Amino acid sequence: MLGLKIRKEEGEKTRKILLQNGILDKSYKIKNLGDYLVFPILKKTEGEIVETEFEKLKEREKFEFKFDLIGDIAIVENYDSSILRRKNVRSVYKKETNVDGTYRTRKYVYLAGTKNTETIHREYGCRYMLDIEKVYFNPRLATERHRISKKVKAGERVLDMFAGVGPFSILIAKKKKVEVHSIDINPDAFRYLKKNIEINKVKNVFPYLGDCKDVVKKLPEFDRIIMNLPKNSLEFLDAALSKIKKKGIIHLYSIKPEEEIKFNMEYVQQVKSYSPRVFVWRYDIKP
Ligand SMILES: C[S@@+](CC[C@H](N)C(=O)[O-])C[C@H]1O[C@@H](n2cnc3c(N)ncnc32)[C@H](O)[C@@H]1O
Repeated sequence: MLGLKIRKEEGEKTRKILLQNGILDKSYKIKNLGDYLVFPILKKTEGEIVETEFEKLKEREKFEFKFDLIGDIAIVENYDSSILRRKNVRSVYKKETNVDGTYRTRKYVYLAGTKNTETIHREYGCRYMLDIEKVYFNPRLATERHRISKKVKAGERVLDMFAGVGPFSILIAKKKKVEVHSIDINPDAFRYLKKNIEINKVKNVFPYLGDCKDVVKKLPEFDRIIMNLPKNSLEFLDAALSKIKKKGIIHLYSIKPEEEIKFNMEYVQQVKSYSPRVFVWRYDIKP
């Protein structure tokens, strides 16, 4: 069979391009060779082509490839009525717009099942109530949130500057003996954040509604600051730097390349793709 060999960092971008152009053979599993991936392809394309065998995907895996699950809402690219036979799916929606505006929200088109955009999403032992149209939420960030929560040490004071409904804040507060201060400018996100603090029974999260540039002025200094606003987080870096302790660390998520972040970086990691050719990076900044 034909395969396209590429470096792992290029994986998500390549997968999307191959899918868009109908080149990816969706019946087979992508091969993982450590630093490289090999995509099963239907015809030759640009890049390093190899001859190799691929493992066939099971029906269930083929299907799972196509949708995101937020609580019991399936967000599909292509609708298949069998999706509603799954026990964990109550409603089916499709993205209508890209994430947009200060609140980073998007519109959805209702396709099937119960017409209700509010749900409860479970992630790493926490529950998040949210409305997919009123707030930002991305289930694909679960691993990243877990990664950050593992870095936090007992006794830290943490600031989540763009907290949304609280998935970084609540996970950290639940797993570690720390104090988390969480800000969001979207009143709906703030309402769900408070609700989620209650549902998850965490007493160590302090929620604030407002622009983080103003809110931080009345807060103390922090050991760790999370800045999860990839499109324009850099505009808020000065506010974060004014509140970080000498030995503290800022986790800055940004779509900007490394050359544009003129700070002392300890670590850089590609987190997810923002669009087919743009990636979200996490820069761990030491003041
Ligand atoms: C990309 S979302 C991230 C939400 C959350 N961290 C998560 O992982 O689900 C960015 C959030 O920042 C909020 N936001 C945008 N500008 C803000 C500002 N100036 N001050 C506080 N929050 C802001 C938006 O309302 C949105 O909920």
